[in-house]
Amino acid sequence: MQLTDPVTLAGRTAQSRVVFGPHETNLGDARALSARHTAYYQRRAEGGAGVIITETASVHPSDWPYERAPLASDCAPGWRQIATTCQPAGALVLAGLGHTGLQGSSAYSQTALWAPSRFTDPVTRETPMVMEQREIDALVEGFAGAARIAANTGLDGVEIDAGPGALLRQFHSGLTNLRTDAYGGDRLALTVATLAAVRAAIGPGRVLALRLCCDELAPWAGITPQIAAEQVTVLGPYLDLLTVVRGGPYSASAYRPDGHTPPMVNLDLAAAMRAAAGLAVPVVLQGSVVDVAAAQAALDDGAADLAEMTRAQIADAGLAAKLRAGQAGQIRPCLLCNQTCRVRDNRNPVITCVGDPRSGHESEDPPAGSPATAAQYGQARQYGQTRQARQDTQAQQARREVALSLLNISEAKRRRGISYAGFCLEKK
Ligand SMILES: Cc1cc2nc3c(=O)[nH]c(=O)nc-3n(C[C@H](O)[C@H](O)[C@H](O)COP(=O)(O)O)c2cc1C
Ligand code: SF4
Repeated sequence: MQLTDPVTLAGRTAQSRVVFGPHETNLGDARALSARHTAYYQRRAEGGAGVIITETASVHPSDWPYERAPLASDCAPGWRQIATTCQPAGALVLAGLGHTGLQGSSAYSQTALWAPSRFTDPVTRETPMVMEQREIDALVEGFAGAARIAANTGLDGVEIDAGPGALLRQFHSGLTNLRTDAYGGDRLALTVATLAAVRAAIGPGRVLALRLCCDELAPWAGITPQIAAEQVTVLGPYLDLLTVVRGGPYSASAYRPDGHTPPMVNLDLAAAMRAAAGLAVPVVLQGSVVDVAAAQAALDDGAADLAEMTRAQIADAGLAAKLRAGQAGQIRPCLLCNQTCRVRDNRNPVITCVGDPRSGHESEDPPAGSPATAAQYGQARQYGQTRQARQDTQAQQARREVALSLLNISEAKRRRGISYAGFCLEKK
């Protein structure tokens, strides 16, 4: 099984086993998905991504974790546009759906956060309200309603978030679920109800995926790999795809670690969950998968069926296509620096990459490799590039792209009238 091989999920075929995971971009137009989102995902679809999960949309207005967080009820036009542009390129597009519960923010909604129990979040220090049956019913209907909207726009399915920052995970965990009712007695009860409602909403012919936290790295009361393996046996029968992730309230950085942590952090965890699912559900390996050879080795070893390479495709949108073309050596690497792709702060910086400043600016910056102006050639020479260099061999393409990226920084800087340090910031 090759990374570039197609894979069929719920009867729908993706062009490759390379996944572009859900992530905050700040490309939104208020709480709707924008044309910039479409251009951003289209570039990855045309670059060979097999499965694209769009930026996680809140399924209920009680969830507003950051200013431009998509709200599912506002996402129909954007989802339709993304489906229309990405599917012809060969990608399956799933709507990321979630609710961040006590890990959200009350700053935008000015209402209490929802949570299973009255547990103060150690990162945000917000103390939530305890959800009663009314809120639980609204949440399940929120997931089902959002999935119905996504299916009606033509998307291939949905991915439900039960990862490190998700309300569903907060119900799964002994750290945050101290309830004495049915949702405490059976910590998966809410997720089971949610998955059943979502399946009823989208039918059997669309992909139902789950992003599941399988290790909170807090073994005193949290989800451990052993507990997660039991959860996978319960949840597996509802699923067409399972993404294995780790992290929780005491280990937020474990979800997308920087270069201080060795890559492929979840290799053993993914293999264990794949075994727990009895190989019946395709498993996605996640967590600093930035090298195509290492990803291929994980597939060869049977640790997973697909590989999520999110930052790797922020750094090089054409990763899978280059691999397919035998140009793996020309893939622009993700450095795991967590610099300009990390965008959760009050300035609403638009997602981009230190290696490819065009990331996030697809609809406004010239494509890499497009004819440069005389002025740009002049600047290129400053970076050791000459007109002759543009006629160089394929092996020098990558070096030239770096120079063009630098030009794009200059151009972005000029257009936005802002400092180099702030080139990733969106002018409001
Ligand atoms: C800027 C950024 C924002 C992210 N936001 C979310 C998010 O809102 N929801 C989510 O489930 N994952 C989010 N992620 C996690 C990614 O989907 C992915 O799992 C993570 O980056 C680790 O995979 P990677 O090592 O392939 O990048 C985010 C990642 C990045 C880089
Ligand atoms: S800024 Fe670019 S290179 Fe650095 S972690 Fe993010 S995607 Fe990777």
